[in-house]
Amino acid sequence: GAAELGPYRHYMQKEIFEQPVAIANTLDAVTGISPELFGDGAYRVFKDIDNVLILACGTSYYAGSTAKYWLESIAKIPTSVEIASEYRYRDSVPNPRTLVVTISQSGETADTLAALKHARSLGMLHTMTVCNVSTSAMVRECALSFITRAGAEIGVASTKAFTTQLVGLFLLTLALAQTRGHLTEEQEAEHLKALRHLPVAVQAVLALEPQVIAWSEEFARKENALFLGRGLHYPIALEGALKLKEISYIHAEAYPAGELKHGPLALVTAQMPVVTVAPNDALLEKLKSNMQEVRARGGELFVFADGDTRIESEPGLHVIRMPEHYGALSPILHVVPLQLLAYHTACARGTDVDKPRNLAKSVTVE
Ligand code: G6P
Repeated sequence: GAAELGPYRHYMQKEIFEQPVAIANTLDAVTGISPELFGDGAYRVFKDIDNVLILACGTSYYAGSTAKYWLESIAKIPTSVEIASEYRYRDSVPNPRTLVVTISQSGETADTLAALKHARSLGMLHTMTVCNVSTSAMVRECALSFITRAGAEIGVASTKAFTTQLVGLFLLTLALAQTRGHLTEEQEAEHLKALRHLPVAVQAVLALEPQVIAWSEEFARKENALFLGRGLHYPIALEGALKLKEISYIHAEAYPAGELKHGPLALVTAQMPVVTVAPNDALLEKLKSNMQEVRARGGELFVFADGDTRIESEPGLHVIRMPEHYGALSPILHVVPLQLLAYHTACARGTDVDKPRNLAKSVTVE
């Protein structure tokens, strides 16, 4: 009810603002990196696997897509990520030395549960879930688990569940890296420090809300939007586009920026806002040339750049500066303004933000 909402207009907004606390709670019991964070016997399993298969739907799938970058670059373990409803019905080549990881806010999504059972039926018995509901079917079905502490999420569009899933998946990456000899004590300490600082860092990003509101008024008048990202932030661009379409009903799609020339550039006109996720990472120079390609076609850019990036606002190029560059954990910060952009655009269009048409919080039937 209204009392629970406090100063917020919708549960989604409240949940976006709860992210610093949700992340802190998720990290609360983590005193160091160890396989046991994922349950008894995890060490033996981590020693026995040679790849990871992530299965999920919706926003949880994008958390998995982000984790793939971490797992391959930090833990050096081959990782594939599959949409649960695809995986369960396709012929695939099973490997019993696979760690099957489902990701689910609710732990009750029918396709994700069925995909898990399908993997098991193929002889893959090392199962784990990153899940927000400790009493869910998913947690019961998986041998290992990591429970995110986002608390109840009521808005249909997932926000705090997503960022806490990313925290859980980063911990999984570190635990696997450690088991496989790819994590020094120094690296562990550095990563833990960055994780612990996340609540403060997310809080600083939330303070950008007024700037995002200014953009949302312009977005509310559009019918299409394109989101670009590269590398670790490509799945974040996908998640930003998903959020916008789910709650504002604006058609949005995301592309890895390097693919612009292979299609979406044909759509770029002054009517097509192009949201660009531009952290100050190794791909920034490449991304800047992709931005030039958009500008040259008269496209209007809305860029989320890190504080230390030399991208300045000019006509047709709007920049919101993120407080700091956050290395490997940067996706957790960069998704937050995209959540706010979708939220405020939906508010400006007067949609039912917490209960978008045709969508359900948890899809328990196929
Ligand atoms: C629905 C929700 C999404 C969620 C997806 C997967 O589509 O609207 O917010 O990401 O289901 O749900 P799960 O509970 O498995 O994460």
